[in-house]
Amino acid sequence: MNAPVDLAPFKVLIHERCGLGFASDGDDAKLRQAIMARAQCLHLHADAYFLRLGASNGEFQELVNLLTINETYFFREPEQLRFVIDRVLPRFVARPGQPSPIRILSAGCSSGEEPYSLAIALQEKYGTAAAEMFSIHAGDIDSAMLDKARRAIFSEFSFRGVAPDIRQRYFEKSASGYALAASMRQRVQFRLLNLLQPERPLSLTNFDVILFRNVSIYFDAATRKRIQQHLSEVLRPDGLLFTGTAETLANDLNVFELIEEDGMFYFAKGKPPLPSTLSRRAALHRPPPPPPTPTPPPPLRRAPVAAAPAVSAQQRPTSIATSQVNTAPIRATAIDSDALRRLVAGHHYEPALQQLDAALAITPHNPALLLLKATVLLERGQFSGAEALAHSVLSQDHWSIDANFLLGQAARSQQRVDEAIRCFKQAAYAHHACWPAHYYLADLYRQRGDAQLARRAYHAVLQLLNDSSADHGIRHLPLALPTGEIRKLCERHLASLPAGRK
Ligand SMILES: C[S@@+](CC[C@H](N)C(=O)[O-])C[C@H]1O[C@@H](n2cnc3c(N)ncnc32)[C@H](O)[C@@H]1O
Repeated sequence: MNAPVDLAPFKVLIHERCGLGFASDGDDAKLRQAIMARAQCLHLHADAYFLRLGASNGEFQELVNLLTINETYFFREPEQLRFVIDRVLPRFVARPGQPSPIRILSAGCSSGEEPYSLAIALQEKYGTAAAEMFSIHAGDIDSAMLDKARRAIFSEFSFRGVAPDIRQRYFEKSASGYALAASMRQRVQFRLLNLLQPERPLSLTNFDVILFRNVSIYFDAATRKRIQQHLSEVLRPDGLLFTGTAETLANDLNVFELIEEDGMFYFAKGKPPLPSTLSRRAALHRPPPPPPTPTPPPPLRRAPVAAAPAVSAQQRPTSIATSQVNTAPIRATAIDSDALRRLVAGHHYEPALQQLDAALAITPHNPALLLLKATVLLERGQFSGAEALAHSVLSQDHWSIDANFLLGQAARSQQRVDEAIRCFKQAAYAHHACWPAHYYLADLYRQRGDAQLARRAYHAVLQLLNDSSADHGIRHLPLALPTGEIRKLCERHLASLPAGRK
């Protein structure tokens, strides 16, 4: 199949059937590669392959399996999981007339780490009674991922951030990886699930809690809304929906009511069960007590590829250009750090790492490349590697805003609050208008119960956001900066922090 493939009809069909969109060069490259691989496998030209795709559900499944982004790991966003296990589910357990068992759905479960994390955490909390008390279901559109989930053998990669004793107790090391104990495997029922299709088998209805985390980032607002309407139909009247913490405001689409409780956000279909001391309204505005564990701040999302921060020609790190994002290994002469940034922003970590390593072999001290590689390692929970790269940038430029900011993110992810504060302060000293650093500082102060400093930092963010000439100064890290959402969050937090001087 050598003629160029017209991607447009493929995009329309795929978007219509399962919601996936292709907004960037990197997405296009991935789609083109997948189409060519499947068409070659069937000895078809692109046009004939398109017809086959429309006519065969089996072939559509094969193609979709090549297109989904399945990044996941055990106990991802641990603060939110802890909140679900320790705060939310006990309310359902205590609710009079609670139909047993409590039903939980992991929607977009990928290879199963999310629902298995729930099973393990519930076993830790309730012992073997958890098997009777909770019924855990999980679904994904990717049938290959579901096969992997059912096999339940995981690589080292799935365990970033998992306490060694948990791995020891629930997994057995084998030649092919870490096999989850059969007793936990049996706790989760997996099913093929297309969130965009309204029909639901009975086993996928009547849920009390749905985790819909790190899935909606791949959909446009109209698709997110359609999916939310489907999810609402399979939730019980007082059921709750959790999105990833960075996705909250993008999912506030008037289908569910957004509730904030101690810095945690979730969506309610009707009247959710709340602790007896807390009314629903109060849940939205209650000043947070010093939290037992740090709460997650980061609505600063990785940039959708189309929204990668604009960088002026002078600010661009030296690059020998190719304009396309290419997922093939890089050649010695083709280093394009903007293209690499788009690859990282689009979560294409594997090809990004390959290309970054190849590029770093040519220019080992290039700060843009070092920081992009650090970002990938950070995303993968490889904190010491990420930190080492950021330090090597600092050894060239002590005031690098990007490097200090990245070190702040790494420290925050590892719950090293004081160190995170020090790094974000450093970024803000280097460049006062770096409002993302002020934003993280505000959240860290709030977590520490330091209301006055938190208020001051939130006000600084709002002031900088109101100044259209303020430039945050982060040049290389592919952050999406959804300023509207950040502004709303600052206002919410300011309304709920105890009043005080600025
Ligand atoms: C990045 S993973 C998230 C996994 C897990 N929820 C987590 O937070 O770690 C996103 C998953 O959503 C699935 N997905 C994408 N579109 C879907 C759809 N229309 N219906 C069901 N699952 C979908 C993908 O196959 C992929 O496995």
